[in-house]
Amino acid sequence: QQVESFDLVLFGGSGDLALRKLLPALYSRHVAGDLPAHGRIIGVARQEQTREQFVAQVKEHCILNIEKGLFSETLFNVFAKRLEYLRVDAGIASDFSALADFLKDSAAKVRVFYLSTAPDLFTSICENLSVANLIHSNSRVVLEKPLGRDLASAQEINARVGSVFDESQIYRIDHYLGKEPVQNLMALRFGNALFEPLWSRSWVRDVQITIAERVGVEKRGDFYDRAGAMRDMVQNHLLQLLCIIAMEPPSSIDPDAVRDEKLKVLRGLVPMTAETVRGSTVRGQYRAGAIDGQPVISYVQEEGISSSSNTETFVALKAEINNWRWSGVPFYLRTGKRLQDRVAEIVINFRNVPHSIFPPPKGGIQGNRLIIQLQPEEELKLYLMAKEPGNEMQLKPVSLNLDFSEQFKQRPMDAYERLLMDVIRGKLTLFMRRDELDAAWRWVEPILDAWNSSDEKPKSYTAGSWGPAAASALLAREGSSWPEES
Ligand code: BG6
Repeated sequence: QQVESFDLVLFGGSGDLALRKLLPALYSRHVAGDLPAHGRIIGVARQEQTREQFVAQVKEHCILNIEKGLFSETLFNVFAKRLEYLRVDAGIASDFSALADFLKDSAAKVRVFYLSTAPDLFTSICENLSVANLIHSNSRVVLEKPLGRDLASAQEINARVGSVFDESQIYRIDHYLGKEPVQNLMALRFGNALFEPLWSRSWVRDVQITIAERVGVEKRGDFYDRAGAMRDMVQNHLLQLLCIIAMEPPSSIDPDAVRDEKLKVLRGLVPMTAETVRGSTVRGQYRAGAIDGQPVISYVQEEGISSSSNTETFVALKAEINNWRWSGVPFYLRTGKRLQDRVAEIVINFRNVPHSIFPPPKGGIQGNRLIIQLQPEEELKLYLMAKEPGNEMQLKPVSLNLDFSEQFKQRPMDAYERLLMDVIRGKLTLFMRRDELDAAWRWVEPILDAWNSSDEKPKSYTAGSWGPAAASALLAREGSSWPEES
């Protein structure tokens, strides 16, 4: 869709996400010449400040958050002409008449309301927008995660937002879906015929998805302590990655063609029971340790965290999908804060050869392994067995490596740059549909419930390690191991 003009109203406009991610992403798209010439960005927040103060704040964060060499004072001054600021208390209906006045004479074709606020404000903002008559057929609303804290609260938000916006106007963000390497996963699977015949229980032994972080809870202790890694990472980012790996080829890239297939995966996840939660999930919490030689404090000592907190900062679990393609194949998911490395990667372990004719190599013949690294670098590694030079028929694993930054020598777009452009252009493929969110919560909730009603505390792990030993044992039981252990 060719968009000539837009108004983007950014609720929570002076908040952390807006300043650190959204506004720098908009600046970058402006510099790339991607933003329609007539497009305004209206920061909206409770804070009393002038337009000039807002612009100064945005500038400071653009300088801090944009890669070196990409910030230019001159270009920023042009970008700044798009910026406006309005004081609105999201919870006060009468404040919305000021917003209505502001937008009254706007000829913008597209109107985007981006809710970068606490989720408990989502419904009142949407209802207030409706009362102020601000929603028209070309309006869109963007909802940041977390959307609810369980199935019931997510359903409530969806129902109330859904009573004023049509589903086709609702953009539920999962920023992982906007990452270039995640897009490339789709290209790998559906742009190549090579892997498809192997992509099933016949040839795949297990799949491992890891998002490991070195950072702790940063300045979000208060939020994080109520959420934990399951709600913060597994319910959304990890399950979305699992969907892309496991889904059937969609018939097109159209939003519903893709989202229908992802939904089938989520609905096919084998529900967890109290017993499988005990046997197939590990939750952990970091204690003091060191990262890069620097001491770090324990989770419960972080600001905003209760000293008796049982919130998990680490999760590892085994999921299974009940369908013909994947029945019996373990999908191991793992995420955690204060781990040894920052890495996001997917490992596909293929089955071993059915019969080996070679002398057993040290470590045995290993099945082929495909590693798709999303972060910190975008890389693809395919491990094959090869003969070591010499007299003996001695085999050892070697890897074929594809480094995307070497290949393309082009700065990849940041996730929020892509997603914001998709919202402005009305492309829904990379946003979660309501039923997907429901299905994800339906699967996650029994795990949270079982943890809640258990007397067991999260397993402690040292900051700077790879998490509790039980996470290794989860795989070892089935003859597998995490990539850093193999
Ligand atoms: C966010 C979580 O959704 O994703 C954070 O709330 C986490 O806790 C972040 O740090 C990780 O994203 P990325 O893009 O840095 O891997």
